Amino acid sequence: MPKPKAPTEEARARPIDGAVQGDDARYDRTLRPKTFDDYIGQTKHKENLKVFVEAARRRGEPLDHLLLCGPPGLGKTTLAQILAHEMGVQLHMTNGPVVEHKGALAGLLTKLAPNDILFIDEVHRLNPVVEESLYPAMEDFRIDVMTGEGAFASAIQIQLHPFTLVGATTRTGMLTAPLFSRFGHVVRLDFYPVEELAKIVARSAGLLEVRCEPDAATEIARRARGTPRIANRLLRRVRDFAEVLGTGQIDARTAIGACERLEVDAAGFDEMDRRLLKIIIEDYDGGPVGVETLAAALGEPRDTIEDVYEPYLLQQGFLGRTPRGRIATRKAYEHLGKKEPKRQGPGQGGLFE
Ligand code: ADE
Repeated sequence: MPKPKAPTEEARARPIDGAVQGDDARYDRTLRPKTFDDYIGQTKHKENLKVFVEAARRRGEPLDHLLLCGPPGLGKTTLAQILAHEMGVQLHMTNGPVVEHKGALAGLLTKLAPNDILFIDEVHRLNPVVEESLYPAMEDFRIDVMTGEGAFASAIQIQLHPFTLVGATTRTGMLTAPLFSRFGHVVRLDFYPVEELAKIVARSAGLLEVRCEPDAATEIARRARGTPRIANRLLRRVRDFAEVLGTGQIDARTAIGACERLEVDAAGFDEMDRRLLKIIIEDYDGGPVGVETLAAALGEPRDTIEDVYEPYLLQQGFLGRTPRGRIATRKAYEHLGKKEPKRQGPGQGGLFE
């Protein structure tokens, strides 16, 4: 299975991209909730995880291995940090492609104290040899390493302390079946509804010590594409405008004006989203159009289209996925102020009736 390419830098420089950029990491440390009680949203998952933590703690065991899936910026790392905090153990963080060989993995695993959590971000991008040596570690808390060379080479087994692997992925479909099956629990994070994002914006404004009126928090939340990281980033940008051009306080007008200057529209779309939808509507009569064709028209790799641009457009129903390719929905026509063409055929007043 081909490993997905990382998105282009251009795709990652958007104010409404979910991946870490600019000063996000520094602010993440301040704004990130540290306990389940501080964590807003994903209630169903949170309540289940609380039970697993309590059960593991009572038994003095590690949590079962856990896979966190979902688009960037929804809080996979945050949840791993909260789990470690609530378990009272250390969190060790790494990233799939960074673990280049078996020795590097052995180095990470042998450093773990009992019940510690090893967090592997982008776990779908592990090198296959490293991934395979993770299997006995996950199953039996043991790794097989080679010592010596040539005729003196021999395999030795190293016993590890019981630990929890928390894997994170934006692409569940890219995980191999043997790795996927070794996770005891899978959490698929959902995009956050506006009301929850507004609560997150209000909480973050409090931590940043900036006054943000409730309707301003809602305006920011509406444009944040269901993603806390984007909501917090937009809040910081809006705060810049409020401090330099306004009174320092954030009201709805300041929030909307700042987002307009950032070219983020009322649905949280930027120029690239609008271009993608316009290409389907204007150049391909609303679709279907193959993802490779779209990628060529936008000048972006296919993986970037699928990982960065499409998830929110699909989830919000602006884009449809059919076996023959992508289609622009009625919502997309309406959002761009375009008239939906009448289609031929009985009972077909419109493409999506
Ligand atoms: N900041 C980022 N994500 C958050 C969440 N889910 N709850 C509270 N604050 C957050």
